[in-house]
Amino acid sequence: MTNRTRGDKYQEALGFAEKQVARVVEKYPDYFPIYTEGGSWKHDGQLWTDWTGGFLAGMMWQFHRRTGNADWRTRAEHYSKLLEHRQHDRDVHDLGFIFLNTYLPWFQLTSNPELHDVLIQAGRTLAMRFQQRGQYLRSFVAAESLFIDIMMNVPIIFLAANETNDPSLRTIADAHCLTTRDRLVREDGSTAHEGIFDTQSGEFLRQTTHQGLRGDSAWARGLAWSLYGYSQCYALTGDPAYLEVSQRNADYWLSHLPDDHVPYWDFDADLSLPAPHGAQKDSSAAAIAASGLLDLAQQTEAANQTDSAEKSKRYRECALAMLDALVEPEYLANETPGWEGILKHGVYHTEKNLGVDESVMWGEFFFVEALTKVVSEEAT
Ligand code: GLY
Repeated sequence: MTNRTRGDKYQEALGFAEKQVARVVEKYPDYFPIYTEGGSWKHDGQLWTDWTGGFLAGMMWQFHRRTGNADWRTRAEHYSKLLEHRQHDRDVHDLGFIFLNTYLPWFQLTSNPELHDVLIQAGRTLAMRFQQRGQYLRSFVAAESLFIDIMMNVPIIFLAANETNDPSLRTIADAHCLTTRDRLVREDGSTAHEGIFDTQSGEFLRQTTHQGLRGDSAWARGLAWSLYGYSQCYALTGDPAYLEVSQRNADYWLSHLPDDHVPYWDFDADLSLPAPHGAQKDSSAAAIAASGLLDLAQQTEAANQTDSAEKSKRYRECALAMLDALVEPEYLANETPGWEGILKHGVYHTEKNLGVDESVMWGEFFFVEALTKVVSEEAT
């Protein structure tokens, strides 16, 4: 019997992830899945919105960067290229998800100015969603709607602002972050999924939700998007206001996580009820938060706050505890024959019954990203 270390388990999980992604590419060439049905990626289920292409290609970049394997780079370039036209896509608010995980690593590897141009254009296209009245980037559903998810996409506008020195981009991105902080992030660090504005006056009307339990509840994935999104905005701007929001989100996260370290889909779900509306886990929220907390731990340590060291340690320990849970066969599909995904027990849209208790592409990506951060640190 061998005693596998945490590092061994993470490496094995990444090896399994590589196998699963290679199978998707072989079985469904040039297809960008969103969620599984019964463990299979290809089905006739609705998309709701087309936002996840960057996660499949992004995992290929993560694999290439960790292993140096040239085949992964060839696949990563091919799948990234398939997304290039999305730089002009004005129908979604997800251009950060699509391009920061694909064209950014590609550009960082090559310094190719054509890749740089795509990133800048994607930032400019996303900025066109800005609503002067209300001061936010509108969600894909309507002009009156602000989503917490957009916090993970606004970094591409900060990136474009930094690269071009265009002050109008920075102004838009800052305004969006501050409006989201003031309207969707609550005093206790929890978040609402959606805010509704009066498009004529710009007045904020109410908090509501599509994917969470209620407008006044804490949808777990939305909180993870906020935690990680504000941390990325802090990385790109150095603005301590963004660090404060991410830490507030993290403190809520840490104090509400169940004992097995994997959240239910909504922190306010009634756990006496069965899944999907009650006791349904969302492994993808854990993966996103783990990756965000690893960054936030480093940022907190460097920020020199009075309690920096203690806070940073708690954030990192929580991230590792979540990953330790996710690499076990309860969540990792390595002992589930025929399952095409990497992580089980994710959720896409409970109300619409899409991808409930399934693998979801963003869960796969952020799991791979978080594990890669830890094993890469250990290798240096
Ligand atoms: N649309 C983003 C999410 O489902 O979290």
